[in-house]
Amino acid sequence: MPIDFTFVPKHYAARDNEKMKEVLMDLESEAPAIHYYMIRGGVKQKNITIWEPGMVGGEYIKTYGHYHVGKLDETYWIVFGEGIVLLQKLARDEKGEMIPDVVEEFKAIPVKEGDKVYMPSGVGHLAVNIGNTYFVTADDSPVNFEEKNAVSLPGHADYELVKKMRGFAYYVVESFGQPALRKNSLYKEVKKIDAGGLLVI
Ligand SMILES: [Fe+2]
Repeated sequence: MPIDFTFVPKHYAARDNEKMKEVLMDLESEAPAIHYYMIRGGVKQKNITIWEPGMVGGEYIKTYGHYHVGKLDETYWIVFGEGIVLLQKLARDEKGEMIPDVVEEFKAIPVKEGDKVYMPSGVGHLAVNIGNTYFVTADDSPVNFEEKNAVSLPGHADYELVKKMRGFAYYVVESFGQPALRKNSLYKEVKKIDAGGLLVI
């Protein structure tokens, strides 16, 4: 298959601590300058994400989290390491708009190398590195290199709802040496939760 090298210089972006501060549980603690690295090739070539290991103020290093704009599903393949994928579906008002602080359904899925997770359309997602190594995933979301921030903040993803709520409905924290879920108090209601066997504290 012939490969077009035109966009190779645009493939890479890193998520820095300044941006992550918008969604971290604890802003005062020591944090890495970069939380994760993205290499975006799109639907066919796939996208690779690499998480730093570690914790910031008791919260495991995570991706920012987003909802997809329009009807768009996505699959994540776990390439290396150990993590937890968080999925949350917001409730909608009578106009069909998502209500930022009411969660219809929240799900935590512990994952490891070889696993695959399907993100249905309309469901927000992020992932957390709970291991001592890098955590690495591949995914098949689209990229449009005509956009200004195609790799760092692609147009198919809505980050604003997550920013407004300072993260998802639960943070993944360490409790007695184990990952556990801690409620984000800005959310008014979580109607249904599947904690994936994790303790909710
Ligand atoms: Fe996505």
